[in-house]
Amino acid sequence: MGRHLAVVGATGAVGQEFLRVLEQRNFPYDRITLLASKRSAGKTVTFKGRPHTIEELTEGSFAGVDIALFSAGGSISRRYAPLAAGAGTVVVDNSSAFRMDPETPLVVPEVNPRDIASHKGIIANPNCSTIIMVVPVWPLHRLCPIERLVVSTYQAASGAGYQAMVELEEQTHDVLAGRPVTPNVLPHRMAFNLFSHNSAIGENGYNEEETKMVNETRKMFHDENILITATCVRVPVLRAHSEAINIRFSRPVSEQQVREALAGAPGVRVVDDRAKNYFPMPIDSSDGDEILVGRIRQDISQPDGHGIEMFISGDQLRKGAALNAVQIAELL
Ligand code: A2P
Repeated sequence: MGRHLAVVGATGAVGQEFLRVLEQRNFPYDRITLLASKRSAGKTVTFKGRPHTIEELTEGSFAGVDIALFSAGGSISRRYAPLAAGAGTVVVDNSSAFRMDPETPLVVPEVNPRDIASHKGIIANPNCSTIIMVVPVWPLHRLCPIERLVVSTYQAASGAGYQAMVELEEQTHDVLAGRPVTPNVLPHRMAFNLFSHNSAIGENGYNEEETKMVNETRKMFHDENILITATCVRVPVLRAHSEAINIRFSRPVSEQQVREALAGAPGVRVVDDRAKNYFPMPIDSSDGDEILVGRIRQDISQPDGHGIEMFISGDQLRKGAALNAVQIAELL
């Protein structure tokens, strides 16, 4: 028997991107099963130029499946990922359900690929904003241990799913046509607006997205001491997240050292043209695999030379979700 793959949530924004990434990277498999809710069962989606029928996700869906890529939300993962793992499937889970579980490795292949080996059937794919941040930050942490990170995000609609992307497009048409706008998928108007990330606010005033960026980075870096604070904001962009990142290193680090460390870093492309005022933009990072990094400069508010500022942009659906999960599956 050859390798049997399953995609859970195959009709969703990340699920569709799983299929594109599997095709583009020519991921080896012999059989693929595409799973979604009962609503989608029987519909067809095109994969590798051929129609594939969507099947309903059930408890029996994982018999004989070797690797399953999950992106159908936390509650589906909590229910079905342990069932799949129990049936001998290795699950790469894009939801937040198992990320902070000490038994579950949380992996970005450019950062901590060796953690995969400790899996017990489930490997967690980190939060999209976290993945996009750690790809360029990890080589800098290797260059010189980071004491403190301050990050502000500019997050696309795609992070809230396919329907949120449709909502942004429709709202934009509505606003331009002078029609009234009623937010439905996201809580506030996205078109010509921005708002604090829609995840729940905790007791300390941080929303869940911000807390994920803090906790998940510490877990992957195996460093509980690194200090991180985040402000996460939704902006009217379709599918790429951007982030302003301020770093305090434990020793003085020059801009030149940072540029050299990033020039050789996997998954990173420096886009930093001061003469042309050309820096990372979501329209340039969209549909690409690399995290774009620019605005690299010494932080003038840290006269001891410990501080660096930079601005990054990465495709939320690709490296922020599907590409990272497929890279994990490739390492399996
Ligand atoms: P469906 O299209 O049948 O609702 P997104 O994050 O883009 O909104 O996508 C969510 C994905 O999760 C979709 O593929 C969706 O399938 C799937 N999904 C949602 N609820 C269930 C469920 N109860 N069982 C299986 N898949 C589900």
